[in-house]
Amino acid sequence: MIVFTKAGLAISVASVVLNSFVRATSFDGQYLQPNSTNDAVEWWWGSAVGTPESAGTPGPVLQFLFYQGYSILVDSDHSSLPEYYFTINGFFPNGSDFSVTVPATSGNIIEGAGNVVTGTWGEVGSFQTSHDLKTMYVSFNAPDAPYGISGTMHFTSNRANHFGCNVTDSPYFDEFMPPPSQALTEAEQILFTQLGWAVSIPGGTVDVDVTINGTRLQFSGNGYHDQNWMPLALNEFVSSWYFGFAEIGPYTLSYVSVTPVNSSIAFNTGYLATDQAVLQNQCSVNGTKITDISIIQPKGEMTGAQGTVAPSTWTLSYIIEDGTEFEFEMVPTAANPNLNIYQRWTGSITGGKKGDESYEGVATFEWLNPGLNVYSSSA
Ligand SMILES: *[C@@H]1O[C@H](CO)[C@@H](O)[C@H](O)[C@H]1NC(C)=O
Ligand SMILES: *[C@@H]1O[C@H](CO)[C@@H](O)[C@H](O)[C@H]1NC(C)=O
Ligand SMILES: *[C@@H]1O[C@H](CO)[C@@H](O)[C@H](O)[C@H]1NC(C)=O
Ligand SMILES: *[C@@H]1O[C@H](CO)[C@@H](O)[C@H](O)[C@H]1NC(C)=O
Ligand SMILES: *[C@@H]1O[C@H](CO)[C@@H](O)[C@H](O)[C@H]1NC(C)=O
Ligand SMILES: *[C@@H]1O[C@H](CO)[C@@H](O)[C@H](O)[C@H]1NC(C)=O
Repeated sequence: MIVFTKAGLAISVASVVLNSFVRATSFDGQYLQPNSTNDAVEWWWGSAVGTPESAGTPGPVLQFLFYQGYSILVDSDHSSLPEYYFTINGFFPNGSDFSVTVPATSGNIIEGAGNVVTGTWGEVGSFQTSHDLKTMYVSFNAPDAPYGISGTMHFTSNRANHFGCNVTDSPYFDEFMPPPSQALTEAEQILFTQLGWAVSIPGGTVDVDVTINGTRLQFSGNGYHDQNWMPLALNEFVSSWYFGFAEIGPYTLSYVSVTPVNSSIAFNTGYLATDQAVLQNQCSVNGTKITDISIIQPKGEMTGAQGTVAPSTWTLSYIIEDGTEFEFEMVPTAANPNLNIYQRWTGSITGGKKGDESYEGVATFEWLNPGLNVYSSSA
């Protein structure tokens, strides 16, 4: 039985039935088994964003993704890389960008006491979360050409770990699936029932000390760490995906907005917290309710990656359960990666509670666009 076809290549149903997940007992553990016989992908992502040296420049930034499998699969023979690798993207304090993909011979996750998780990517990289998810340690060990990355990152969390949707027992979005009367496509079902999200470190600080091709990059910045997994590569069921996070004034925030392939659904999840309370941790299909929502809206136009048009501004709104509104505006300074299928911007963020004090900060916000949707501010 053929479920998806793309570019003339058939992907067998074997990849779709990968739903009996290896449920980790640790929050940040292994949830799927991506390997060369399936199209599953699982990644551990972390970000350090420092205060820019001057307004309008993006550095310093260091971001990593430890991968098992492929987030974007262009053919089904898995030939482009080994199954295990990590990617590094970032900016030096002067705004120059850098990026590298480091292949690994293995990508093992071992669970320890409490929420301790140790990830070992061959000899080239590793990470470890602490039992209480308050800290995370990351190490890179590929100093030689052609990779040129070594050093460490130490995260200290300022918020409790969370799944989306304000639940403690499921990393999936199935409770927020549109009613059964509405027949969902396979792509929509995978989004709601099999795409997992676990946020171990919603915000906090991170100390970075790495060497990139002989140049030391050392800074303290805002830290964030989460994990995603799915039974297919993202491009096989997702058309568009907005994601972002920031620390601004008293607020720690993140959001995701996803539209599956061939779907009119925009599924939103939003998280907004201070050190006093979690103000929101919601999931919803865009347009189905008017409070306890988060909406991310691209605005304006600028030149994007590879000759495309990209938004020049993003407005992020949260309306919490009691109707209180928060609004933030994000403006990109630079993108890395900067591809038509994936633009990850570093930029400024301003805003807060509507009518109240406005704060300023730095943010990371991205548009994964495997569907190559064309953006226009008038659409
Ligand atoms: C690959 O993953 C599948 C689950 O999709 C599992 O049944 C199989 O044993 C795995 N193969 C290897 C070589 O680990
Ligand atoms: C910025 O800093 C990096 C690392 O020191 C250096 O390689 C690069 O040439 C610098 N770029 C500019 C434009 O000065
Ligand atoms: C180190 O230099 C090589 C060769 O120029 C380059 O391909 C690689 O991306 C660089 N490493 C990093 C971490 O930027
Ligand atoms: C999306 O729609 C196109 C055109 O109808 C079709 O060729 C394609 O198979 C669909 N993709 C999925 C994942 O349903
Ligand atoms: C999260 O769930 C708890 C328990 O159901 C509830 O008391 C709280 O109001 C919810 N918070 C938000 C922000 O939805
Ligand atoms: C989400 O809903 C708002 C109105 O509630 C609308 O302005 C916006 O365009 C919608 N976004 C998407 C992606 O559908």
